Amino acid sequence: MRKVLAILALGLLVGSLATAAKFRTFAEIQKSGKVIIGTEGEFPPFNYFDEKNNLVGFDIDIGNALAKKMGLEPEWKAQPFDTLLIALNQGRFDFVIASHTITPERAKAVDFTKPYYCTGNVIVAKPGGPKTPEELKGKKVAVQVGTTYYDWVVENVPGVAEVKTFPTNPAALEALLSGRVDAWVTDQFTALEVIKKRGVKLQISDLLNKEEIGIAVAKGNQGLLTALNNALDAILEDGTYEQISMKWFGKDIRCK
Ligand code: ARG
Repeated sequence: MRKVLAILALGLLVGSLATAAKFRTFAEIQKSGKVIIGTEGEFPPFNYFDEKNNLVGFDIDIGNALAKKMGLEPEWKAQPFDTLLIALNQGRFDFVIASHTITPERAKAVDFTKPYYCTGNVIVAKPGGPKTPEELKGKKVAVQVGTTYYDWVVENVPGVAEVKTFPTNPAALEALLSGRVDAWVTDQFTALEVIKKRGVKLQISDLLNKEEIGIAVAKGNQGLLTALNNALDAILEDGTYEQISMKWFGKDIRCK
């Protein structure tokens, strides 16, 4: 009996070790002098590679400003959106800033800072196309895989003909432009950016919901989480945040 219990206990221990998040404590990060930041790089204007192949965007400027406030040198790593939070818990980055909406589901796996901006989803279509959840009934909708846009369509458009998922948000846009789908559900600012940069004729619906966007640390990395929240408070107060937001959006997108 004792032996069985011991084996059971060992099994539980190994099991919990296998699922526990791996991370560097804030003290370890400070000692190394640099903080490793994960992002995607395919989500303009928040995180993307410009013509010169530099990683740029609102998320990148905010990440760099937070690193600076914490007295750390930022080192960026970019990889597909739907792999970011898993890699974070495996210790590949110290934090992830990639415009993740704070959801109860994700908050079970990772810890989020307070929101660094607030936004909402829109339906994008060719002129005369769908503008409301009702009008999406019987239509084909493109979304980026692993996003809250997918969840929004599934939860709010019961009669949707098909939800097509794409590895990146720009790939979902291309499906709309080439007529493979009737609509694209995405973030309001990403939709505005496309119209501004590409000059394409597309219509944008009213805001469909409100999303709070946060920065993620590995589950249980309390020291880093506190340092990030403090740094975020500091840049929100000292004008740094406002300046970055004005640069990308011409307005302050902090949560009100
Ligand atoms: N806010 C949405 C979500 O959390 C979309 C984020 C997409 N970010 C990106 N880097 N592609 O699901």
